[in-house]
This record gives sequence, structure tokens and C-alpha cells, in this order.
Amino acid sequence: MRNIVVTGGAGFIGSNFVHYLVENVPDVFVTVLDKLTYAGNKANISSLPEDRVKLVVGDISDAKVVDEVVRNADTVVHYAAESHNDNSLNDPSPFIFTNLIGTYTLIEACRKYDVRFHHISTDEVYGDLPLREDLPGHGEGPGEKFTDKTPYNPSSPYSSTKAGSDLLVRAWVRSFGLRATISNCSNNYGPFQHIEKFIPRQITNVLSGIRPKLYGAGLNVRDWIHTNDHSSAVWAIVEKGKIGETYLIGADGEENNKDVVELILELMGKGRDEYDHVNDRPGHDLRYAIDSTKLRTELGWTPQFTNFKDGLADTIKWYQENESWWKAEKAAVEAKYAENGQ
Ligand code: NAD
Ligand code: DAU
Repeated sequence: MRNIVVTGGAGFIGSNFVHYLVENVPDVFVTVLDKLTYAGNKANISSLPEDRVKLVVGDISDAKVVDEVVRNADTVVHYAAESHNDNSLNDPSPFIFTNLIGTYTLIEACRKYDVRFHHISTDEVYGDLPLREDLPGHGEGPGEKFTDKTPYNPSSPYSSTKAGSDLLVRAWVRSFGLRATISNCSNNYGPFQHIEKFIPRQITNVLSGIRPKLYGAGLNVRDWIHTNDHSSAVWAIVEKGKIGETYLIGADGEENNKDVVELILELMGKGRDEYDHVNDRPGHDLRYAIDSTKLRTELGWTPQFTNFKDGLADTIKWYQENESWWKAEKAAVEAKYAENGQ
């Protein structure tokens, strides 16, 4: 059995990746290293067999815990992060510690034991793009989507700490020969996503009798990918990616927020106009869009969940059927948003 450490494997995308490994890769034993912050939930992986998955509760900034977990690993796949932009605007400090110091602690341990490292990052490191209608090639011309050559230009405390962590990994590859790859993915959706995030917040609002909340005019565009497609892409990079390379992961899923809220309402049997416009996010990135040609041509990856409406309907069903997973937190999450007029 290969020993794979998955940091943040009790969070949204990390836990979906652990499920993916157990279901698709027979010769792998997974050690999840997760602090179980407000965003981590051991229930996300509790259905998985003990002979395939073990949870170690610990902080990626704690060098002693990290050393113990990494010394026996073949590969570390690093998902753990403070991940929510709005939280980073209220209090950046945990973002500095986890995203920067935590990543530094992990790559030092991987350097010491010569362990293969894959760093999970975000398209937000590149900043934002103009809307398609304001571009000469309408979003398809050269430079009109993010590639691995786009200069870093992060906007928020969250995205700047992710950018910093990417740069640490690149420096460790060049200076110390760390066997690492990086992936920058667009917005994920699917089961187990925390209800502070856009899509699950609106779904659970409707299920709770609360009107969905759209920031500003809602014209901001996100490039949605189902989290299972993110998992298969990451595994392709771990298996076939070239050391030192950066791969962008995306599934051509651009939608503006207004259209997404209206589609959620329609799929849930409500009127498409039954939502509120609320305060915009300070510094709100306008548009993200990924050019994933490199990943598709060099590693042969293709997304499978490309019908956004169907994927959204499945996600709505998951939140309907798993009310006990989110219900207890709902009032507190909404109270926090209300403090910001959101
Ligand atoms: P999440 O907030 O749902 O989960 C984060 C997990 O990390 C939680 O289980 C939490 O307990 C754990 N964690 C936080 N701090 C920790 C620490 N100090 N030590 C150990 N564990 C800690 O996040 P997510 O949305 O699943 O994102 C996972 C990763 O993917 C992040 O690195 C994020 O930047 C990246 N990413 C997210 C998206 C997205 O759309 N959500 C898109 C691209 C990239
Ligand atoms: O692009 C990848 C990034 O996607 C990841 O790196 C982040 O970890 C992840 O949280 C996500 O960041 P966003 O800021 O794009 O996601 P969020 O779900 O917070 O918001 C999506 C869009 O919806 C954004 O334009 C803000 C808007 N929004 C959000 C909330 C919570 C609303 O209009 N209403 C809301 O209630």
C-alpha cells in the first residue's frame, strides 16, 4: 500500500478527494491530517473503512505532529487552508498562520524525508479578469483566461496567502529539489461544502425559509467545477505530473452569480426573483476563467461532470437529504453575515 497524507481531508474538497481515492485507487492508505477547525468535520470521512483511512487531528503548523505524519508518507497532498475570502476580510491572522506557516512546515518535513508533495491552490492567485463582453476575443482570445503564465496578482488576504504559499513551494523546488507540483483550481461545488460558501448558503437559505443573498449586482463570474472532477485532476497530476510544474484545473463552467441564484431558486421550485441584493464584498474579484489546455493535453485529463444544471440539482438533493449535517450551524453563519449587512 502507498501511504498518502491528505492535509485538510476533513474539509470540503479534501474529504471528496479522500472518497475518490478509496473508491478508485485500490493500493492506497490515506492518513488525513486535519485540525478540525469550524470548516472540518470528521463526519465527512466517517463512512470510510478503517483499513483505508486514518484521521490524525493536528495542526499543519505544528512541526512535531507534521514530522510524525510525513516521515512514513510516500506523498503529501496538501489541501488544508483557511479558505473563505469573507473571513479573511474580517480577520486575516489565521490565514497567515495556516496558509503560510502551515505550508512552510509541511514542505520542510517533505524536504527532510524526500517525500513527494502536491500543493492545492486556487485560481484566485491570478487576481481577476474583465467580463467577456468587455474583451476583444469575448473571453476566448489570447490572455483572456488564466494560464500558468499569468502573473500573480491576488486581491484578498485569503488569495495573497495562497499566492505566498505557491511561491514557497516553487522556491523549495528550485533551491532544495523538493519533488513538488502545484495545481490552481477554479470554484468547486458539490457535497460537504461548508454553508458559509455561496452555493450551499443559498440552498440552505431556501431550505430554511430565508431569501438567498446576492452580493451587489451579482454580475461577478466564477468558473464552476464539480469537486469530483477536481479530485480526478489532482490524482492525474500526482501520478503523471512533471516535478516543478503548475497545472490549472477548470471545466469551462463560467456562470455569473445572478444566474446561479436564479437557477437554484428555479430548481427548488421557487420564483426566480425571490432573492435579496445585499452589501458587496470589498475588493470583490470580477471574473475568473481557467484555460486547462495544459492539463488536458499533457496529462490526458477530461472532466466528467460538465452539465452544471444537473450537478447543481444533485447538490441541492444532497443538502435536502443531509439536513443534520448543516442545520445546527445555520443560524450562527447567517448571524455573522448579518453583521456585515450580507
Ligand atoms: P475548507 O475550508 O472546506 O476545508 C479546509 C480544511 O482544512 C478543514 O477540514 C479544516 O479543518 C482544515 N484546516 C484548516 N486549518 C488547518 C490547520 N492549521 N491544520 C490542519 N488542518 C487545517 O476548504 P476547501 O474549500 O475544501 O478548500 C481546500 C483547499 O482547496 C484549500 O487549499 C483551498 O485554497 C483550495 N481551493 C478551494 C477551492 C474552492 O472552491 N473551495 C477552489 C480552488 C482551490
Ligand atoms: O476560485 C476559487 C476560490 O473559490 C477558492 O480559492 C476559495 O477557497 C473558495 O471559497 C471560492 O472563493 P469565492 O470567493 O469565489 O467563493 P464564495 O463561495 O465565497 O463566493 C462565490 C461568489 O458568490 C463570489 O463572487 C461572492 C458571491 N457571493 C458569496 C456569498 C457567500 C454572493 O453573492 N452571496 C453570498 O452569500
